[in-house]
Amino acid sequence: EIAQNFQVAIDGPASAGKSTIAKILAHNFHYIYVDTGAMYRAITLAAKLAGIDYQDEAAVVALLPQVQIEFKPGSPVQHVFLNGQEVTEAIRSREITNHVSQVAAYAAVRQDLVGRQQQLAQAGGVVMDGRDIGTTVLPQAQVKIYLIASVDERAQRRYKENQARGIAADLPTLKKEIEQRDYLDSHREISPLTKAQDAQVVDTTGQSIEQVVATISQIIKNHQDS
Ligand code: DC
Repeated sequence: EIAQNFQVAIDGPASAGKSTIAKILAHNFHYIYVDTGAMYRAITLAAKLAGIDYQDEAAVVALLPQVQIEFKPGSPVQHVFLNGQEVTEAIRSREITNHVSQVAAYAAVRQDLVGRQQQLAQAGGVVMDGRDIGTTVLPQAQVKIYLIASVDERAQRRYKENQARGIAADLPTLKKEIEQRDYLDSHREISPLTKAQDAQVVDTTGQSIEQVVATISQIIKNHQDS
């Protein structure tokens, strides 16, 4: 019997803490970490750099074959490269954040990136975070987590993150932007944000990063032993 590489799928709404938690888990378990949101963001940035209107689906899709996305390990964040250029910061700008859901709704964009994500998961044990990992990208994942937190807490976290990075933003606006992105991500036609039937819900409201990491680590260990 060929042992399937161990797969941990972490899905959930914007700013629930997915990438922070996923990255620590990957490090602790010596798995690779794939941030699928960064891939949708990279495509969105590629469209911006090419001067393409985000609403022009055909033009965005035509870019796909020329878009190379790479990850390189780094701390505190993984480095992201678009066609060899570092875009780690650029893909987190408010403009990209507020248009990525639109680009991520295009069928051909999803098909292309899901293929790349499945390819990356071939390399070994993997922790992958996103919106459709447990439902679509890695439906056979041994561990599926659906990470949630209240909108207020998620807006607070984004606010602190932005402050730390010197980006101006006010709390009510951030809350509205998060709600808008949640709405678009869960109402699109193709693989919308939904909890996989066999995913375990982990609510991070009021929990520290350490607590959430401990909870999910235990879930992973239980599955590895069984
Ligand atoms: O996780 P994030 O905020 O970096 O994701 C950015 C956007 O990309 C998110 O609003 C929706 C989209 N996305 C997606 O559609 N499917 C994924 N697996 C990951 C992200």
